[in-house]
Amino acid sequence: MDATEKHNTRLITIDELGDSQVAVVEDTPHGTLAVGMSGDEPFAVSNTCRHLFASLGKGDVEDGQLRCPSHRALYDVKTGKMTRGPQGGFKPIAGPVKATLGARALKVYPVEMRDGAIWLT
Ligand code: FES
Repeated sequence: MDATEKHNTRLITIDELGDSQVAVVEDTPHGTLAVGMSGDEPFAVSNTCRHLFASLGKGDVEDGQLRCPSHRALYDVKTGKMTRGPQGGFKPIAGPVKATLGARALKVYPVEMRDGAIWLT
């Protein structure tokens, strides 16, 4: 696949996102991605949570950040960095987890909104 094909890859329509504002998109040129909207901005990041590998596209967007469906860690979708560690039973280790795993950010892919859909750019 060349750069032109990647540019012309439509990932998902805005209507398909639903209330969570994020979805799993498989078989993209970059593998499986979590694709969604953060406010008015589209985003696409790697789909696997850095904590225990949950599918981030099955989470939701909270205050513009991507929330993991398993233990509710938050990610900044512009940088891919974990901004809040795992919650609940993981709280006592949330700090160390953030320190060690937060440094390994999600991959962030450039996208744009066009014709009511999110496209790779
Ligand atoms: S798997 Fe994502 S926070 Fe635990």
